[in-house]
Amino acid sequence: FIENDLKEKAPLFGKKILVSAGPTYEKLDPVRFIGNFSSGKMGIEIAKEAMEMGADVTLVCGPSSISTTNYNINRIDVVSAMEMKDAMESQFENADIVIMSAAVADYRPATMAEQKIKKNDENLTIELVKNPDILKGLGEKKTHQILVGFALETNNELEFAKGKLEKKNLDFIVLNSMRDEQAGFQKNTNKITLIPRNGNPVAYEAKNKTEVAKDILNFILENYKI
Ligand code: C5P
Repeated sequence: FIENDLKEKAPLFGKKILVSAGPTYEKLDPVRFIGNFSSGKMGIEIAKEAMEMGADVTLVCGPSSISTTNYNINRIDVVSAMEMKDAMESQFENADIVIMSAAVADYRPATMAEQKIKKNDENLTIELVKNPDILKGLGEKKTHQILVGFALETNNELEFAKGKLEKKNLDFIVLNSMRDEQAGFQKNTNKITLIPRNGNPVAYEAKNKTEVAKDILNFILENYKI
């Protein structure tokens, strides 16, 4: 009886979940950066819901104003993509489930100026270099982990998302369509389609991000052995 009770109330009890959230900031000089509008809300909701379901949660979080201090979450705050990569890699081996929902910057400035960049000429050119694909790197190291990524697409959504799932060696990918008014950055709602490696895509209605987080975690519980 106790075992059944636990399964119902804390279905992720004893499971280690690693979640990434938020944007990354890539520094140009001591006072400026290149970033994006991700709020961190989706990933943080996943971390909170996983905790409510009994999991042992580590959250690797880029700059976000959302607090998690009232939650029993091991939070590692990072700034840049390179810092996020180090944090994710150091936590990966121990994790049972890894959900990469961060909006990682694809490029970073080739150099960071030590002093504030002065305004001089009419034009300023900044050289950018590609950041490593953190999720792809984890996909290459994957052993027992259930690995989940996100995809934000504007066209050919299913096809592009499926391509990413294969390329990054994921178990499933969460597709958000930018075409949907209720999905995306800085919103409280999201409309997702879950695309598993084996099996058919499952489309959900637009919901608030707390409910979306529950859908993603329940999908794992229903479809994967952890
Ligand atoms: O290839 P794309 O950036 O569209 O893939 C999105 C997925 O890959 C997300 O899960 C995102 O967190 C992850 N990603 C990453 N490292 C990058 C770029 C994206 O882990 N440099």
